[in-house]
Order: sequence, then C-alpha cells, then structure tokens
Amino acid sequence: MSELHVPAIQLNDGNLIPQLGLGVWRVDDAVAERVVSEALEIGYRHIDTASFYQNERAVGRAIAASGISRDELFVTTKLWNTDQRDPHGAFHASLERLGLDKIDLYLVHWPVPTKGTAVGAWRGLIELVGSPECDSIGVSNFEIEHLTELQRETGVVAAVNQIELHPLHQRRELREFCADRGIAVAAWGPLGQGITDLLQRPAVTGAAAAHGKTPAQVVIRWHLQHGTIVFPKTTHRERMIENAAVFDFALSEAEMAAIDALDAQHRLGGDPYVFTGE
Ligand SMILES: NC(=O)c1ccc[n+]([C@@H]2O[C@H](COP(=O)([O-])OP(=O)(O)OC[C@H]3O[C@@H](n4cnc5c(N)ncnc54)[C@H](OP(=O)(O)O)[C@@H]3O)[C@@H](O)[C@H]2O)c1
Repeated sequence: MSELHVPAIQLNDGNLIPQLGLGVWRVDDAVAERVVSEALEIGYRHIDTASFYQNERAVGRAIAASGISRDELFVTTKLWNTDQRDPHGAFHASLERLGLDKIDLYLVHWPVPTKGTAVGAWRGLIELVGSPECDSIGVSNFEIEHLTELQRETGVVAAVNQIELHPLHQRRELREFCADRGIAVAAWGPLGQGITDLLQRPAVTGAAAAHGKTPAQVVIRWHLQHGTIVFPKTTHRERMIENAAVFDFALSEAEMAAIDALDAQHRLGGDPYVFTGE
C-alpha cells in the first residue's frame, strides 16, 4: 500500500481535507469497488461520491476491504435534491450504504432554488454536524445568491462549495466570494469532463511539454496552485497514478496566467439557478 503525501487544506471548521482525491460520478456500482480499491492501494485517501451516483455501497465495500484506518480516509457524499425535505433520513441512508460510522463531509448537492427547500435542508445539516457521525458540512453548485441566503437565514457558513470549475469555466467572482468567507472551493469537472478540447489547448500542452508532464497533470496542477480541492474521476489505474503525480513540479506565473486566460465561461453541467435533476 503506497502513500501519496497529498497536502491538506484546513476548512473553516478546523477539519482537514486532502486537496486531491478521486471522484466517482458515472462509475457504475459494478466497477466502483474495483476502482476505489485501486485508488486506495495507489495511495488516494479522499473519495468523492453522492447518493445520486448510486455507488455508495461499492465505495463502502472497497473501504472495508482496504483495511485502512478510518481516520486516514476522507469520504464526501451528498444530499440529493429530492431528499432536501428529509436530510436526516437521507444522511443516515448514505451512512448505511457506505457502511461507515461517520461521513467526513456532507454536501447539499444542488441549491434547487425553484423548490425553495435548500435552507430547510441546510438547517438539517447544521443539526448533524459535529455529531460523531458528521465532521463537516457544505454545499455544491451554490451561487453567490444561494450562499448569501444560507448565511442570512441560518448564520452558518458552508465549509466547502463544490462547483463546476476548470480552465474553460473559472468562476472568478464566486471563488473570490468564497475566499472572503473562508469557504473552501472544490472543483468538479476539473479536467473538463473529457468532453472538451481543454487537454489539447496550447497553454496546457506547452506547459506539459516544458515540464515533461501530461496535459491532465498540468490542469490538475493549475487547480492545486489556485488552492482548489480537486478529485478527477478515472476508472483507469494508470490515470489514477498519473493524476496523483502532480506534487513534483510547479507551473510558473506565466504558465498559470496562460491557463487563466482560457476562461470562456463554458459551463458543461446544469445551471444552478434552474437545475432540479428531475
Ligand atoms: N457536485 C456535483 O454536482 C458534481 C458534478 C459532476 C462531478 N462531480 C464530482 O467531481 C468528480 C470529477 O468530475 P467529473 O467526473 O465530472 O469530470 P473530470 O474529472 O473533469 O473528467 C473525467 C473524465 O476525464 C477522463 N480522465 C481522467 N483522467 C484523465 C487523464 N489523466 N487523461 C485524460 N483523460 C482523463 C476520464 O476518463 P476515464 O474514466 O476513462 O479515465 C473521464 O472521462 C466526479 O467524479 C464527481 O465526484 C460533482
């Protein structure tokens, strides 16, 4: 069993989160156990799942089989939109599926403003956090308006906001807002989900050639140097190793600036103002 020496980021509640992990969206339950087992074996200690991904049981089986002590692992899962009226029930169902005694980070998956149930859900998470079963709480896909509403209504600031974030969609205003409030930003779709030409852009391929790294490693490094938490998804063992081999080089200011200049506000996923998932 290897170790990766991934730096940790301290959240506004004092807890630590490994800055790099593995995401498992669209990893079928049938293969997720193999994928997570390989990642843990390679040295990953941070897994990002969600009840919506329907692979919490497989993630839990891989964790149980790994023999890694629980306090070395960081597991995030998320409250799905249709469960916002029953956050405690959904949380305990996730805990049961994962086969864990505790979830490190529990997120409200989407703000679903058209339903008006996110503040109630957030109140539920506030009741859970700090119990032996839940260390940290946060949100995902929340825009400034949605974060402001949570803080105004409850006074409790999320520890993390997990948002679509990659060089083609950089969310600068939202990132600044989060930084001002101590909300850590986590990127989903960090590699542009493999459906854009991001990894072929000269700013990325040029830096890759200069450092003897791959385009994916350069993009992951760009996230890390911006202080973002990142968990690229892959089902391939070689890519898990590749995506984690990003702590032995640094992009120069000019290389960072060239990638910063790729922002095109090119959103790949749902619009948080209207997305319901239905
Ligand atoms: N909160 C939310 O609403 C939300 C939404 C989406 C995702 N997420 C989370 O964020 C995680 C990551 O985002 P994502 O899965 O959407 O997209 P992503 O990590 O940006 O991209 C994944 C894609 O990139 C490919 N890939 C991975 N490593 C690569 C490499 N080294 N070189 C070339 N291609 C590579 C993968 O292919 P292979 O698998 O074939 O290697 C896959 O097609 C998810 O798994 C999930 O945990 C959260």
